[in-house]
Amino acid sequence: MPHTDVIGAEQQPLGLRVATPRRLLMCRPRHFDVCYSINPWMHPEKPVDNNLALLQWERLRELYISLGHTVEVIDPLPGLPDMVFAANGATVVDGKVLGARFRHAERTAEGPAYLAWFVANGYQDVLWPEFINEGEGDYLPVGRRILAGTGFRTDQRSHAEAQEFFGLPVTGLTLVNPNHYHLDTALSVLSDTEIMYWPEAFTPGSRSVLRELYPDAVLASAEDAAVFGLNAFSDGRNVLLPQAASGLIEQLKERGFHPLGVDLSELLKAGGSVKCCTLELREG
Ligand code: ARG
Repeated sequence: MPHTDVIGAEQQPLGLRVATPRRLLMCRPRHFDVCYSINPWMHPEKPVDNNLALLQWERLRELYISLGHTVEVIDPLPGLPDMVFAANGATVVDGKVLGARFRHAERTAEGPAYLAWFVANGYQDVLWPEFINEGEGDYLPVGRRILAGTGFRTDQRSHAEAQEFFGLPVTGLTLVNPNHYHLDTALSVLSDTEIMYWPEAFTPGSRSVLRELYPDAVLASAEDAAVFGLNAFSDGRNVLLPQAASGLIEQLKERGFHPLGVDLSELLKAGGSVKCCTLELREG
């Protein structure tokens, strides 16, 4: 009998998942608050503990650093309480920066503020976009393909703009549940070929597209999606996600990932968590 050492991905021993070091951009929540409501999570009448938000954010930053990642920080600006959600500030692939143009007036000034950081930090291929897009909130690169959300924030016309700019295939997905208004609240990238998502957040057509492209995806329960479990960051091995997403944590362990539960309860009051606070700077 011929003998083979090749094993299927589903049989991979735990040790085979390899983390690759990433460069990340974050924004300290010094001016964080919930003083307007642009998604169903935001209740301006409820108090926010800014010191606790800062502490939880620091812990996330330190966790990234302890895992070997590099964390850059952008100065938070007064009057922009949502600027902590760095994922929305741009999309960076192959060292190219697609700037963000926000849907709501409350966040409009964040677009130029983030873009200025990129220019000041030596990025040369920078595009100020024609169409509304909320950065990595709705653009999630999976290997050499970019998944792109629309339905609440990012204008569908932005998808063609992103495809032309990056020169990579952009696959549009339509969101239908207002609690999951950005793609990164309903879907998360685990590796260059793997994702996890909550099917109910998408139109039937978009669900079919996801099944077609990622038949082996990790599917989240409604409970895990509701605690923002899909707002996760993966380096290929370590998956940082809201600690309340216990079902996803178990599923990720079974797949050989190393899930790390994080508590960002204060930021969740604005409808954001791990991934929202994290913009990945992908070099060329
Ligand atoms: N309050 C912010 C908004 O509604 C939260 C943004 C969360 N960011 C994200 N990448 N999902 O715009």
